Amino acid sequence: MQPEKIGIYEIKSELGRGGMATVYRGYDPRFEREVAVKVLPHELLHADPQFRLRFEREAKIIAQLEHSAIVPVYDVGEAEGQPYFVMRYMNGGSLSERIKAGVFSIEEATKILEAIAPGLDEAHARGIVHRDIKPSNILFDKRGNPYISDFGIAKLSQAQSGSVTGSAIIGTPAYMAPEQAQGIEVDGRADVYALGIIVFEMLTGKQPYEADTPMAVAIKHITDPVPHIRQTNPKLPEGMETLIQKAMAKNKTDRFSTAVDMTNALRDVARSATTKLSTTSVSANNAPTVKASERAIPRRRAFNPLFVILPAAVLAIAAGGFFLFNGTRAPAKTETPASTFTALPPSTETFTPAVEESTSVPVAVVESTSTETALPPASTETSTPVPSAPILGGADQIAFIANNEIWLMNVDGSQLTQVTADGGVKSDLQWLPDGEHLIFLSGLAVKSYNTRTTKVDSLISFPSAAYFTAFRVSHDSKQVMLSVNNEIFVIPFDVETLKNVSKKSELIALEGACILPESGTKAAFIVKEVRWSHDDQLVAWLYKGPTGSDQVSVLDIKGCDSHTIDLRDTFPGHRFTPPGFQGGIILDFDWDGFNQFIFHTFKRNEGWGELHVYNWETFKPTLTVNPIGKRCCYRDARWSPDGTYLFFAFQDEGLAQNARTLLYYVPFGDIAAGANFTPIELPDDFFKNPKEAPQPALRPAQ
Ligand SMILES: Nc1ncnc2c1ncn2[C@@H]1O[C@H](COP(=O)(O)OP(=O)(O)OP(=O)(O)O)[C@@H](O)[C@H]1O
Ligand SMILES: [Mg+2]
Repeated sequence: MQPEKIGIYEIKSELGRGGMATVYRGYDPRFEREVAVKVLPHELLHADPQFRLRFEREAKIIAQLEHSAIVPVYDVGEAEGQPYFVMRYMNGGSLSERIKAGVFSIEEATKILEAIAPGLDEAHARGIVHRDIKPSNILFDKRGNPYISDFGIAKLSQAQSGSVTGSAIIGTPAYMAPEQAQGIEVDGRADVYALGIIVFEMLTGKQPYEADTPMAVAIKHITDPVPHIRQTNPKLPEGMETLIQKAMAKNKTDRFSTAVDMTNALRDVARSATTKLSTTSVSANNAPTVKASERAIPRRRAFNPLFVILPAAVLAIAAGGFFLFNGTRAPAKTETPASTFTALPPSTETFTPAVEESTSVPVAVVESTSTETALPPASTETSTPVPSAPILGGADQIAFIANNEIWLMNVDGSQLTQVTADGGVKSDLQWLPDGEHLIFLSGLAVKSYNTRTTKVDSLISFPSAAYFTAFRVSHDSKQVMLSVNNEIFVIPFDVETLKNVSKKSELIALEGACILPESGTKAAFIVKEVRWSHDDQLVAWLYKGPTGSDQVSVLDIKGCDSHTIDLRDTFPGHRFTPPGFQGGIILDFDWDGFNQFIFHTFKRNEGWGELHVYNWETFKPTLTVNPIGKRCCYRDARWSPDGTYLFFAFQDEGLAQNARTLLYYVPFGDIAAGANFTPIELPDDFFKNPKEAPQPALRPAQ
């Protein structure tokens, strides 16, 4: 029977059952958000009085595991003797549903690994092994980004059953590394092995070892040779064979030592397969990858529940390993349908191969007066085909400011093109959601630049205002939030109407307009920048607060009514003290539209400082390291449209006067993993003024 409440969480529906738990969709009345509540069986707590303590300790470790590719755990508790976890509700389904919908290309598989591998490595670096990596524990958010769920749950369960019997093994036989199946101590390489199996399954639609019973599968992991993936899918290139042999090596020392290493190898295979494909122009039949459109028909899995091997029932000895399992619990749940989940069709958006029609590459080249800057020619010579623009982090174009002008480039720095030449100071550069217009503040006006026609227009101006500091269009293009004289307004976004507005009275006279907030705090505000949440329901403002320090507030602006406006968070404030924040200055910020903010403090050259990421759902800073060699200083960081990459500008403080402005576009997950990054290649001494703010604007891939 479905409970009405678990702890404070209101239970809405059952999402599904795994090997040992039931997961519900719930509502958290405190933070007014949807959550997933995972309830573990009573027995876990009852079997061992010590377990409660261990459970709490382990749960704390899991809850502290923060990474952009790990499903965040919001809360852990116990209700009527049942332990439960409260996690972010992931409404994009699981990888297991996507695999059932058809096989993946190598590029598609690479994208999944690129997202989750850094999270896995980060956990391993902290000594936490997942132990139950499998497609049903890889969940997608509404944007199609994958996350790892159930971190440490297997360990928790093992801790309990192990304490009673001394030798329980937990995991899912189909994904269990040989050493895990033998009950030998595991490290991160057991998860790498499981990742190898997931890749095998994504590319073939089949698990490498199939048998009639869970135990028979587990034994195969120990004794059978690593299967040859090309026997299952002969269209795969040879490199895939090598990769699987290494990922699934019986001996963990022969495996990739990290998940990121394995991802890099997979990317190489994907690339060489693509190169081969384009240089030899093989027909689709010989293509080394199976295209999304050719996805196979759904298949049925043999079985796949979380598998608890307990020393209660059967005993088998294979390759020196003990197999003791409780056959009653896990296998029985095998075909339990997830009640509210429908299988998702293969995502077209997330897995689109990283290519784009060359026709959408803007070719607007404005004569540069500063002739010494060597501009690569925009694709005007048409004899050679223009290579397709890459897509990274869901972006295909980056606009930014250098030497007071707007420049455009592809995400890898290619096709660098200057698009304005008026010399005017520009700020708050951004793309309109149409992907065609760039807009920016110029004095007391907002101007728009049409990348197709190269026409510049004035969108709105407030000639008699003292300040016009922010202008941001909502994602659905229906509203715009702007700050004039440090008052914040939300008005319908209609280009024709805006042209006729030039003062406050005209602003508030617009149908559907409102001022936020209506009274009281206005005097304390010096508004710097504003942002919308992904669904345009929440807004965030960067402003100078009443204490004199800059801060960001997240608000629910329901109906624009001062009585219902709900302040959801303010930071840094009392939440944390970011290193470098002594002056209390934050010049700009960005929001992934979901739970993460990025901003930098103020240290040198009028605004470059330490970089910080803050999670306003957990109220904790996420990233405390400066990503480039842990050195200062950064500015103008931006989330990629899909939230997986970060763009930022960097100046090495150690080089003092000689510090150059460099631009980086890097996977967010790799930052925590401590990767080394290379800046985007730009002409020497491209930025003439070290105090200038590049203000990058990333265009969502069109
Ligand atoms: N945070 C979440 N948001 C949305 N759905 C979830 C969430 N966590 C789990 N689910 C769904 O609930 C169902 C049960 O999950 P559960 O983790 O119990 O089982 P499993 O992953 O199949 O097996 P295991 O017990 O080995 O983890 C699955 O269909 C899963 O997709
Ligand atoms: Mg799970």
